Amino acid sequence: MAASCRVYIFLSAFVLAGAMFKKGSKQLAVPEKTHATASALKQKHPEPNFVELGSGSAGSAGKVMSDVVTPATPELLAAEPLKWMHTPKCGTSFLNALIHLPGVCPGVDHSFNIDTERYGPHFEIGFQFMDCPNRCDPKKFVCQPHGDTTHMGIGDKYETEFKGHLVANFREPIQRILSAFYDTEFSHGVKDGDSPASYAKKVEHFMTCQIMNGGVMDPLPPFCLELTETDANLAVARLREGFAFVGIMEEWDLSMCLFHRMFGGDCLAADFLDNRPTYGEDSSLHLYDTSVLGGFEDPVDRILYNGAKDIFAERLLAYNVSQESCQPCFEQARSGAAV
Ligand SMILES: *[C@@H]1O[C@H](CO)[C@@H](O)[C@H](O)[C@H]1NC(C)=O
Repeated sequence: MAASCRVYIFLSAFVLAGAMFKKGSKQLAVPEKTHATASALKQKHPEPNFVELGSGSAGSAGKVMSDVVTPATPELLAAEPLKWMHTPKCGTSFLNALIHLPGVCPGVDHSFNIDTERYGPHFEIGFQFMDCPNRCDPKKFVCQPHGDTTHMGIGDKYETEFKGHLVANFREPIQRILSAFYDTEFSHGVKDGDSPASYAKKVEHFMTCQIMNGGVMDPLPPFCLELTETDANLAVARLREGFAFVGIMEEWDLSMCLFHRMFGGDCLAADFLDNRPTYGEDSSLHLYDTSVLGGFEDPVDRILYNGAKDIFAERLLAYNVSQESCQPCFEQARSGAAV
């Protein structure tokens, strides 16, 4: 234990030194530009070989693909410590984007991905409960506390702890329900004999309930079924005031681009893992056939989702995020992927 701790500190110093070297060379070469020049810069200044921190096998010599060239923004610093509200089926690999933000998790480099290869199918649990406290700075990122599940609700902690620090992605409510129903890895409360339609009636209002109520949300507690459109409007108000980042599953590429525009950090291939790296050419989120629900609708989460989409659209405008302006981000992620 003590030995591995020492190795960790030693390696951290290496990574820090690397980051400082790159920062220095960036200031010399290109004082103003950020995203577009980052990959060009890397070609001009090939990186020294560092021990690959993310590999977990400290002895293996590897190459750090890239370290943060794009610095943290004032928005990121204001939002720290970031608290991820993870709604089931709304982008588990978003965790990769979070831990790679500048300074947030000093114990990971860009080659460290939270995925099935490293942790098996339950990769979020593998990281959150085992590695997160060792690798992430508690002043910058809220690891999931032991004893929690990965899909806790916010509830009263909104006012006392999390307002202003929340980050989350939202999904079209009916698609979210079907994705949970067909999930082969986690049950999400699906019981033997459930049909898509019977399941849908047990998990309506999910996203609204997770914002407005605390405790374990997956499986969804029955009181959530009593929420109304008034609750959804309150939840949208929380999104607007207290969520530093709101992403949309159906717009994953633009969500990740907005995320970096707001918070800094390089665009990485891992940011796009969930939805396959299409980078805007063909947004390929799988769409489920909704006819199996016989016209079921969730008007409460519909209000929540529409509110999230409105906020998302406003922030795209405010940060000038578009397919066109995101090409350097997509290109950066692609070139990282090829290394
Ligand atoms: C917005 O992005 C476009 C590229 O898509 C760029 O041409 C334009 O100058 C940007 N506008 C602002 C205000 O930064």
